[in-house]
Amino acid sequence: MLTSYDYSMAKLVDQAGVDVILVGDSASNVMAGNETTLPMTLDQMIYHGVSVRKAVNRALVVVDLPFGTYQGDSKEALKSAIRIMKETAADAIKLEGGAEIIESIDRILSAGIPVMGHLGLMPQSINRYGTYSVRAKEEEEAQKLIADAKLLEEAGCFSVVLEKIPAKLGKQVAEMLRIPVIGIGAGNGVDGQVLVIHDMLGITQEFSPRFLRRYANLAEDIKGAVSHYITDVKSRDFPNEREQY
Ligand code: KIV
Ligand code: NA
Repeated sequence: MLTSYDYSMAKLVDQAGVDVILVGDSASNVMAGNETTLPMTLDQMIYHGVSVRKAVNRALVVVDLPFGTYQGDSKEALKSAIRIMKETAADAIKLEGGAEIIESIDRILSAGIPVMGHLGLMPQSINRYGTYSVRAKEEEEAQKLIADAKLLEEAGCFSVVLEKIPAKLGKQVAEMLRIPVIGIGAGNGVDGQVLVIHDMLGITQEFSPRFLRRYANLAEDIKGAVSHYITDVKSRDFPNEREQY
């Protein structure tokens, strides 16, 4: 699983054969330049979802419900999920949390909308944690995560993402659940992995958590290409005879 937020990138990611494309609210950070995912609106997620959907033929498309559109009021949660499904034609939605939002999850599932859970580090709750450091290192939080994971599976979620938790706990949860467990910074004992596409392609530069493997250095490639273009334009090397009418 990898994220995508726009048509051109989603097309490449889908063609390369990834199973699941997540239209993550990490768009807030990598597309919009915000420090957290909290400012993301439902309309913005729908814009990204529509763009990605048009590009994808093979992968399952999952769209994140953004902060403030599903917590507290399960009827509002269902409305939000329905808007995503209707307007983007996504295959499923993802939301963050366990017991606290189980009413919302139940109601969304009852409308026939597939739900992917998300536990561990939940970036929409950054103001509760204070930092983006590893979650569930202490027994109490680990036990809560295990209980929440069971709750999500029993409710009918088709999969769950575990973000930034000890590998041992990730493996334990994956062995316990029958639904696929997708990890990001949750070790190698889970069923699948997810990364933010801009991070794994090396487009983002400052963000370097231990769990991030960079498969390309596009930041350097892009800056190199742009500076080459600038040089060529200034020297009038570009456009040449064959590149004009
Ligand atoms: O928004 C996102 O990109 C995510 C993944 C990191 C799981 O939720
Ligand atoms: Na997200």
